[in-house]
Amino acid sequence: MNADTTTSAEELRNVMVDKIVEEHQWRGLPLRADVERALRKVPRELFIPGVSVEDAYADTAVITKRENNMNLSSVSAPNVIADMLNQAHGQHILEIGSGGYNAALLREIAGPNGSVTTVDIDEDVTDRARACLDAAGYSDVKVVCADAEFEIESGRRYDLIIVTVGSWDIPTAWVDQLTNDGTLVVPLRTLG
Ligand SMILES: C[S@@+](CC[C@H](N)C(=O)[O-])C[C@H]1O[C@@H](n2cnc3c(N)ncnc32)[C@H](O)[C@@H]1O
Repeated sequence: MNADTTTSAEELRNVMVDKIVEEHQWRGLPLRADVERALRKVPRELFIPGVSVEDAYADTAVITKRENNMNLSSVSAPNVIADMLNQAHGQHILEIGSGGYNAALLREIAGPNGSVTTVDIDEDVTDRARACLDAAGYSDVKVVCADAEFEIESGRRYDLIIVTVGSWDIPTAWVDQLTNDGTLVVPLRTLG
């Protein structure tokens, strides 16, 4: 990446984050300083190679895997991610559903003594997330290919589990993997 591209990506990123901050302020749900810092730091364009920097900072979801007219995986829209991160507190974090980008943001939020594991059921998705995380300098994020309805690492507890796939219920494994005062953030569908 040359100097011009880097500068414009950073500028576009800051414009996008300014809008997210403003919108949260307007809704009376101010964005936490650590969430804002992470959004300003993580280069989203590195998690969606092949997409222009303008589109990388258009604040929309980017589909990363599609089969038989079905969207199987995506990198979520930053404003949606920001909403979830604003409710998420924890140092040892499990993310369910891996795009790479959100895991990098979580790694920033977890701090130097924290840890992030991201799990996805689809090996194409985990391979992609691993490559993007490494390219962006987040090699210490652990990427696991598994069905997250079940325990990921035997006996391991997390103080934050953040689910980035729409869910109809809460599998017992999610609650079992939380520490006593841990937080579960999940986009739960209720009554449709
Ligand atoms: C919206 S994408 C994740 C977006 C990502 N967190 C990001 O950085 O933007 C949802 C992902 O959930 C995964 N998924 C669906 N069911 C799952 C399950 N039971 N266990 C693990 N991953 C699952 C899909 O394969 C898909 O890649």
